[in-house]
Amino acid sequence: MKKGELVLLISRENSYLTNVRNEKMHTQDGIFNLGELLNKNFGDEIKTHLNKKFTIAKPNITDILEKRVKRLPQVITPKDIGLIISYTGIGPGSLVVDAGTGSGFLAIFLANSIKPGRVVTYEKDKRFLKVAKENIRASGLSKFIKLKKKDITKGIDEKNVDVVTLDMKDAEKVVKHAYNALKPGGYLVVYSPYIEQVISVTKEVEKKNFFDIKTVENIVREWQVEKHTRPKTVGLMHTGFLTFARKVG
Ligand SMILES: C[S@@+](CC[C@H](N)C(=O)[O-])C[C@H]1O[C@@H](n2cnc3c(N)ncnc32)[C@H](O)[C@@H]1O
Repeated sequence: MKKGELVLLISRENSYLTNVRNEKMHTQDGIFNLGELLNKNFGDEIKTHLNKKFTIAKPNITDILEKRVKRLPQVITPKDIGLIISYTGIGPGSLVVDAGTGSGFLAIFLANSIKPGRVVTYEKDKRFLKVAKENIRASGLSKFIKLKKKDITKGIDEKNVDVVTLDMKDAEKVVKHAYNALKPGGYLVVYSPYIEQVISVTKEVEKKNFFDIKTVENIVREWQVEKHTRPKTVGLMHTGFLTFARKVG
């Protein structure tokens, strides 16, 4: 294992994301001597000073986003990102325009799916730009994400875009720019916390040559599987609505 390499240390109870380095890491499971990782491979075990065993695994993008990325309020959740990726069919090589960047959570997840393609993400607020920049660097996906300081209601510079994702106030003002930027068959996806925004976005979408216009809500209910198995009483009840529209030409 190389110095600086990102690793996930996992046991049945806990997991820790860290870099390989000549330092000690204090945790509730005891102290890890991270220098020991230099002589190990993925799949090997490492013990804390309390003799607790952890397996060394390669972290995936979800581990990195959960444990490394600073979340400002209102990031898009993985359940909704899953639908964006599967409904639009983006994949390696796609070009995506995203706004607003916020913490960069959606942009990072999308970049992981479309690399070696590009996500160009627009943010107009300096405070968010700073956090997003740090998060993009921490994700290791900087090569595939271009962060632009720009108000997207003023226009989209890119052409021949596969997907435009909007998670911002006044998304309806961007519909015409998204239409011009998209390639035929490309998708506009708008994430709206409130149904009022869904209605104003749909009105704008209907003025343009889009087809397959639909709004969905993705409800995920976790179950507790125990002696008595039933849905968990507490959960994330509402995140947002996703409106999809596909450009004809
Ligand atoms: C809810 S957050 C986006 C969260 C992001 N999707 C994520 O997963 O981290 C909305 C962001 O849109 C930005 N924004 C709002 N209007 C904008 C505009 N006209 N152009 C660019 N960014 C805008 C806000 O500053 C804010 O950072």
